[in-house]
Parts: sequence; C-alpha cells; structure tokens
Amino acid sequence: MTQLQKINEKEPILSIRSLCKRFGSKIILSDFQADLYRKENLVVMGKSGAGKSVLIKCIVGLIQPDSGSIRIHGEDMTQMSLRELQVARRRFGFLFQSGAIYDSLSVRENLEFPLRRVGLKLTAGEILQKVEEALDDVGLLASIDLMPSELSGGMRKRVGLARTIILQPEIILYDEPTTGLDAVTGREIISLINRIKEKYHASSIIITHDNECIRTNSDRIVLLHQGASYVQGDYPSLLAHTDPFVKQFFL
Ligand SMILES: Nc1ncnc2c1ncn2[C@@H]1O[C@H](COP(=O)(O)OP(=O)(O)OP(=O)(O)O)[C@@H](O)[C@H]1O
Ligand SMILES: [Mg+2]
Repeated sequence: MTQLQKINEKEPILSIRSLCKRFGSKIILSDFQADLYRKENLVVMGKSGAGKSVLIKCIVGLIQPDSGSIRIHGEDMTQMSLRELQVARRRFGFLFQSGAIYDSLSVRENLEFPLRRVGLKLTAGEILQKVEEALDDVGLLASIDLMPSELSGGMRKRVGLARTIILQPEIILYDEPTTGLDAVTGREIISLINRIKEKYHASSIIITHDNECIRTNSDRIVLLHQGASYVQGDYPSLLAHTDPFVKQFFL
C-alpha cells in the first residue's frame, strides 16, 4: 500500500461542516458537524424532533440545507449541479423511517424499482439475480412474490433494507431501523445491518434510540441537540459522560 493510499484511508468519506437548516423561523440545524470514515457505523442520537431525519434528508439531498457543507470524498454536495448530485446520490442507500415500500407493488417489483430508476442497462436475468441476492441477504427469498400487505412489520423493514442495498451503496443511512419492532425482530435487523456492513464494506449513519443497537453497532456516536453536534465519542465514553443531558440517553 502506498503512503498516499494510507493517508486516504484516514480521510473521511463524508464530512459535514457548519450545517444549518431552518423552516420559516424554526431553526432545526444550526451548526452541525460530523465525519464518517470507511466501514464505520456512526450513530446519531437526539430527542424526538431534534432534527435527525432532517439531517439525513439533507445528506441525501431530499432537503436543501441553508448553509454549510456536506463533502463526499472531498466534494461538496451542496455546490453540485443537479446532474453531479444525481451521480453522487448513487453512492447512498437510504432506509426511510417509515420503511417506504410501495404497497401496490410486489416485493419483487419493489426491489426492481431502484434498478430501473438509475437507468442501468441490465438484462432480465441480471435484474433477477440482483433482486434474489438482496432478498437472500435479508432472509426473504421465499417472499419474492408476496404483496406488502402480506408482510409483517419486521418483514417490511427487511424488504426496505433489501431495496436499500440492492445498488450496493458505499454509504447507508438508516433512519430508526428498529423502531416499532419487538426486541427479537429488532435484534435480527441489527445483525442484518452488521452482516451487510461486512459483506459490502459499507459505511453507515444510523439514527436510533435503541440502546442495544447503539451498544452493539456503533463505532462512534454523535448526539444532536439544539441543532448542533452536542457531543461525539464512542459508546464507553458517552456512557461514562457526566453531563446530565447526555446521561439521560444512557440510563
Ligand atoms: N419539510 C418540513 N417542513 C417544515 N418543518 C419540518 C419539515 N421536516 C421536518 N420539519 C420539522 O423539523 C423538526 C425536526 O424534525 P425531524 O423529523 O428531523 O425530527 P427527528 O429528530 O427525526 O424526530 P423523531 O425522533 O421523532 O423521528 C420538527 O419540528 C419537524 O416538524
Ligand atoms: Mg426522525
């Protein structure tokens, strides 16, 4: 490995600086900073309404921030043309808080959707192979021809997960992947997230309140409070933190 490659390994894949977003007079993000490194799980915590989903939507370009920068491999996405942004977005997979699978489409069609949308010139056989691999990754191959109404909550999350990874994104953003699931199903989703990270060498930003998920999945944690990154650190350092606001997240 060359010296340059070694240095690049230490560069963040994603670097967020001074991110600000307001809706009307309501300030949601005022000075948010964070870095994401290769093969890292960065957990974002914060109270309900703190702006975690807004943050993640700014990162994938669904919401335009007012100011600040979001650099991917050093290139600022907030300054990109629409065309450049469309290319940059392909590096991301996004598991929506709501799961967001299409109820009128079968599991198979839900998974084919992102493959067709990005305009890859794939044969029917290649599409089927990708759909089957992604479903196999989440243990749902047998459900390929079911409709969403026939799925449990945990299965819907898995379909959402399969759709998120089907384009093998470099960065995966998970918005509350275990919320609304029972503890056992939640644990299954957590272990899937870990398996996907190992298989695809993905870096992830995970929004969660789930202590089990944070303990087992986080390399680093950032606590979003009053629009800013209030504290950052690994799980043991936040667990040992003396600030009362931080402590209440780790009871
Ligand atoms: N498109 C929008 N227009 C106006 N206000 C918005 C919009 N999206 C979010 N907000 C507001 O931004 C604030 C933060 O919302 P957000 O969804 O990011 O919270 P959150 O931290 O994800 O909360 P939760 O843990 O409940 O999911 C809320 O007050 C919300 O009403
Ligand atoms: Mg949210």
